[in-house]
Amino acid sequence: MENLQWITVSSPEEGAKEVYSIIEEELRNNRLQVLGLATGSTMIPVYEEWTDSNLDFSQVTAFNLDEYVGIDADNPNSYAYFMKEHLFNKKQFKETHIPNGMADDLDKECQRYEEELNAHPLDIQLLGVGENGHIAFNEPGTSPESVTHVATLTDSTLGVNSQYFENDDKIPNIALTMGISSIMKSKKLIMVAFGEKKRAAMEKLKSGEVTTDWPITKLLRHNDVVVITDLKVD
Ligand code: GLP
Repeated sequence: MENLQWITVSSPEEGAKEVYSIIEEELRNNRLQVLGLATGSTMIPVYEEWTDSNLDFSQVTAFNLDEYVGIDADNPNSYAYFMKEHLFNKKQFKETHIPNGMADDLDKECQRYEEELNAHPLDIQLLGVGENGHIAFNEPGTSPESVTHVATLTDSTLGVNSQYFENDDKIPNIALTMGISSIMKSKKLIMVAFGEKKRAAMEKLKSGEVTTDWPITKLLRHNDVVVITDLKVD
C-alpha cells in the first residue's frame, strides 16, 4: 500500500486544509492544468478553503465526476447547481465541464464527455466516497474498465443521497458518471472521507484487497493516491 499516502486529520476543516496545500503546491509548480472535481457534503469545507483563499484557477480546466439524469442545471438538486453555489460562482476557471444529464441521447453524451476527458488528461482528481464504497456513481459491481456511462443507482445510494433533495423532487435513479477507468487515468488522486459512515469503505481500502464489490479499492492499483480522512483505521 506504499502507493497510498494516508493522512489522518482531526476534523473535516483540517482535512480541507490538507487538500488545500496539495492544490496550492501543484498550482504553484505549474503541474495543475486539468482538475477533476467532486460533489457531496465532504467537498463543502474543501471548496470553502479554496474560495476563502487567493488560489487562482483561471488557467485550470475543470471536469466534474457525475450528474443526475433529468435534473437541469438551474435545479438546486443538480450537481451543476452545487458546483456553481460552492465554487464556480466564486472562483473563475478557464473552462468547466459537467456531464449533461438533460441530453436527449445519454449514451452519446457519455461518449462526448469521455472524448473531452481524453483530450484534457486529468492532473488531479478529487474524490469522495459513498457509504457503500462507490466512487463518483460507480456502484458496487461496476467494471474497472468502465468509461463515462449511464449508471443505475443502488437503493443504498438513493436512500443516502435523497436526504439532500429539496423541493419534494424525487431523486433520479439514473446518473451519468465518469467510469472507474476514466478516474484511474488521472495522474494523481485525492480521496477525502469524513465521518463514521465512511468507516466500512475506508476499512476496505486499508485492507489492501481489490474487489469490484467495493469500487474504492481500485485505488490500490493507482500509483499516486493521497487519502485524507478523520477516521482512525487500523
Ligand atoms: C455522491 C457522489 C459521490 C460522492 C458521494 C459522497 O454519491 N456521486 O461522488 O463521493 O455522494 O457524498 P458525501 O460527501 O455527501 O458523503
